[in-house]
Amino acid sequence: MRSDDTISVKHHRANAHAYSCVEIGREVHMDSGSWKDRVFSFPAVLSNVEPDFDFGGKAPLTLQLTNSTGSWNAATWLSITDIGTDEMVRVGRATIVDVRGDSANEPLVLTHWRADDQRLVFDLIPNEFCPIAGVVSQVRELVCSIGSDALREFMASVFMIPSVFRHFWTAPASRAHHHAYVGGLAEHSLEVAVLADVARQVESWQRDLLVAYALLHDVGKVWAYKNGELTGEARRYGHEQLGYRRLCSCLDTLCAVDPNLGDLMTGLLSCAWKRDYRHQVATLGGIVRAMDRFSAARFMECASRRSACESDHHSFDDATW
Ligand SMILES: [Fe+2]
Repeated sequence: MRSDDTISVKHHRANAHAYSCVEIGREVHMDSGSWKDRVFSFPAVLSNVEPDFDFGGKAPLTLQLTNSTGSWNAATWLSITDIGTDEMVRVGRATIVDVRGDSANEPLVLTHWRADDQRLVFDLIPNEFCPIAGVVSQVRELVCSIGSDALREFMASVFMIPSVFRHFWTAPASRAHHHAYVGGLAEHSLEVAVLADVARQVESWQRDLLVAYALLHDVGKVWAYKNGELTGEARRYGHEQLGYRRLCSCLDTLCAVDPNLGDLMTGLLSCAWKRDYRHQVATLGGIVRAMDRFSAARFMECASRRSACESDHHSFDDATW
């Protein structure tokens, strides 16, 4: 088994990345010499771990492997303790066998998993996770530009929460107001972060907090909608408190690593700064709030201008008709 073999299964994008040099999907003949050509090792995010109840005998686990070139279904006979629970997605190095050379239709078989705590999840999120071009890569760049190791790792831990990992990129930012479409939450959050990032006269640690909070200020919306309606939890707590509650364990870890930074981030995400104008992060919170309002207002203005143009156009069509 070659531990440094690499894989690119989706879209046949050979050589797109250092770990994408083999095209799968080509015809592979089942002779005894071909097995070693179907074993690959590559960095990946491991998610969606579930037992396969349909399988007879000792049930394998089904799971998903994702890296910047795509996502693949896989099955494994490794135990759940070997690969961890599904409370958080995992980042590590997967060794797989592509049994039939048809990864689009057949699950890969995961034979070995090694966790890699040094690699940030953002390196492995495919750009295609968000339907709006450039959003994933720009969020990745912003997070990588955060100077504090502890805050960067906090951001990575938030995006390792399964719902955030997958749905942050596709959730809407509202039901029927601003950015109310697939990918709207990520696009709006990115816009607020970019606007907050250009705020003048802040120190570098404050800039880091601004970017992190701006990206996460609406993260609760990941859990706020179901079938186009507000969930009961969202109605009860509001999206801000909903997000804060879901991020508590990540905040606890940040507090353990850097108590001061943890307190400041907790003050922002809990919205304690909204209840006390003298709070030490009230100014930073106010900047993000201003950019949030600007982003929403700009969107609505553009939308109303667009619909005015369309109705003018229709009137013209009617007149000429
Ligand atoms: Fe917002």
